[in-house]
Amino acid sequence: MRVLQLASRASANYFESLPSRTCLREPGFENLSQNSQNSQNRQFRQHSQLSKNRQFSQRIKNTTKLGNSRAAAYFCNMATTKLYDSYGRPLEYMRLAVTDRCNLRCHYCMPAEGIDFVPRKELLTYEEMLRLTRIMVELGVTKVRITGGEPFVRKNMYGFLKRLTRIEDLEQVSITTNGAVANRHIPFLKEIGISAINLSLDTLDRERFKTITRRDFFDEAMSTYQAVLAAGMTLKVNMVVMARHNWQDVIPMAELTAKDPVSIRFIEEMPFNGSGGNSTTIKTYRDIHDHLQAHFGNLETLPTPAGSTARLYRIPGYRGTIGIIAAWSRTFCGDCNRIRVTATGKLKNCLYDHGVLNLKRMLSDGSSDTMIKAAISRAYRQKLPDGFATEQQRSSAISESMSSIGG
Ligand code: GTP
Ligand code: 5AD
Ligand code: SF4
Repeated sequence: MRVLQLASRASANYFESLPSRTCLREPGFENLSQNSQNSQNRQFRQHSQLSKNRQFSQRIKNTTKLGNSRAAAYFCNMATTKLYDSYGRPLEYMRLAVTDRCNLRCHYCMPAEGIDFVPRKELLTYEEMLRLTRIMVELGVTKVRITGGEPFVRKNMYGFLKRLTRIEDLEQVSITTNGAVANRHIPFLKEIGISAINLSLDTLDRERFKTITRRDFFDEAMSTYQAVLAAGMTLKVNMVVMARHNWQDVIPMAELTAKDPVSIRFIEEMPFNGSGGNSTTIKTYRDIHDHLQAHFGNLETLPTPAGSTARLYRIPGYRGTIGIIAAWSRTFCGDCNRIRVTATGKLKNCLYDHGVLNLKRMLSDGSSDTMIKAAISRAYRQKLPDGFATEQQRSSAISESMSSIGG
């Protein structure tokens, strides 16, 4: 613990101005839940983490020939290694952006002329991302989502993804893509063990696709849709709902679930469009729900998995599911289990913060894994209770593009 405290002091320079608030626990390695309801909900998951830790302690014992007492000491440490924030929320899910570049120019994400993409040398290297992922897994992350920009515009992704999926104890790697060039990669992704794809698709109308994305990749996106289904992978479709562009597409998109085993997710538009401000009235999760309900009659409510952004429904008799994501209304923050790492290596506790830690600097200046772990733990413990509190702490209004945040 002392090592961690020293490391944490030494790493003070890497912190982007963290909001100052009283921390309720020691450096992030124990679960003193402030919220008892959360705590109860988590017991089952902690239990399975413990049994994993127990197996790990056995491995240490076997491989390092430590005596029983040393192994027991390791076990004690491992049993409390999972990282919790001060509201009892575990860190389980990392969204890792591999680039801020994109081959589309969606209205809700960036202006027509694009954004100032960062020079390549400022991006995390693949080696840095792999090292960081290993560290995150040691802190409890079991799921990594690769995002961008558009992930597939970064060169040499194959080798990186292959090594990523081999990281021990990382249970799930998935990708969010716009589908413009992903279709040809699907068999490879399946082969290396990536079993879930989230595809951005905001309309089934070719002309509206061109208007919304300012590019002509409708056929390619649809072919990615078909390729993912044909490969038997889990497919979720993300449709950002905009009053001015695609309200008329909500019902046809929901109809895809009649035959296809797909989850169609309707997302509230957030103001991360590179210039700030939602340009029209937002269609909220309630508007979307009421619209679907009015058209299809009673929607069947499905259980929502812990940590999920989407509330899930099924149209009776249909094969797929419907998800509604209250990204702007932020109804799911109480259950948030995620962090983001931008393409330039900024750690974000929340979509709505400016970044709380410069990981690129730590990964390239000789900082040890222990120091990096301590810095991440310190930052994560200071995660605020929800996206509203986080937005309030910002030093400037929202003006960034989703492409530079990582979705
Ligand atoms: P699954 O892991 O498959 O459930 O996907 P996901 O919803 O975590 O990720 P995806 O990349 O498909 O994002 C879907 C939408 O949810 C996008 O608009 C994201 O910006 C939004 N989203 C993801 N995580 C958060 C979050 O922590 N807060 C908010 N407000 N929105 C989020
Ligand atoms: N509001 C809501 N969702 C957005 N996405 C991109 N920009 C926005 C925005 N301004 C979604 C895309 C993509 C996911 C990662 O984020 O649909 O699928
Ligand atoms: Fe590209 Fe995604 Fe932004 Fe569209 S939303 S411009 S696909 S990063």
